[in-house]
Amino acid sequence: MRRAFGTVDTLLLVGGAALLAWGGLYVGRYSGRFDANEFDEIPHGPAPKVVAVAADPNAVVLKAGLAVYNKTCVNCHMADGNGRPEAPYNIPPLAGSDWILAESPNRIARIAMHGLKDPVKVKDVMYQGGVMNPQGQSADNPTGLTNEEIANVLSYVRNSWGNKASIVTLAQVEAVSKEVGKRSENWTVEELMKVPMTGAATTSAAITPDQLKAALKALPAAELEAVLKDVKK
Ligand code: HEC
Repeated sequence: MRRAFGTVDTLLLVGGAALLAWGGLYVGRYSGRFDANEFDEIPHGPAPKVVAVAADPNAVVLKAGLAVYNKTCVNCHMADGNGRPEAPYNIPPLAGSDWILAESPNRIARIAMHGLKDPVKVKDVMYQGGVMNPQGQSADNPTGLTNEEIANVLSYVRNSWGNKASIVTLAQVEAVSKEVGKRSENWTVEELMKVPMTGAATTSAAITPDQLKAALKALPAAELEAVLKDVKK
């Protein structure tokens, strides 16, 4: 049985054509030129690097630290971290050094910032006659290392040549910097031995006799007398 080409068929034809046209326009507008980067579930291009970096932030710190090491320390402490022990250099090693491997970076942060003078014992060998100049940024050394660069390079030397110790954070270096304040003298080993080595960051120093004296002097006479009476009890 044949049926005439009716209104319903016409509507279907026109409607179908309209849908096709809309679909074509839609694909044309939103296809991103069928670029694989637009549609791949696993994106190509620079994205994977970002993912890798986020997965291992320590790798980024160590890489940045290596760059600082090669810029600032390598000429003296050498690429293998063994220093130049022979005269006239007398430069101690960082590889296997107890200074480097200590739990806290409190002392090595000071050495990196302000330098070191006088003899120093590393791996049971006494190094004499060498002086390490300050490497940190200061009014005297405006092109010196920033706290962040120091954190990165210390992280690097604590995790190279077989060394294994915690990453040094910017907060740790900033805490040391704040605690020391302005300083233009190189450290001596004797001074550094007094810096506490346990705990993540330097704890605030105990009040010194001079600070105590100043605080007492600032008290009104009556209160000072009361304090002294209390102490004598
Ligand atoms: C100009 C040469 C020189 C440069 C540059 C230098 N150092 Fe030193 N460093 C020395 C000498 C010399 C000593 C030993 C000083 C002493 O005898 O008191 C030393 C000692 C040290 C020590 C303590 C002893 C040890 O071997 O563990 C550390 C830690 C250290 N340096 C780290 C660094 C880092 C990190 C850098 C780069 C930011 C650096 N140094 C740059 C020459 C240098």
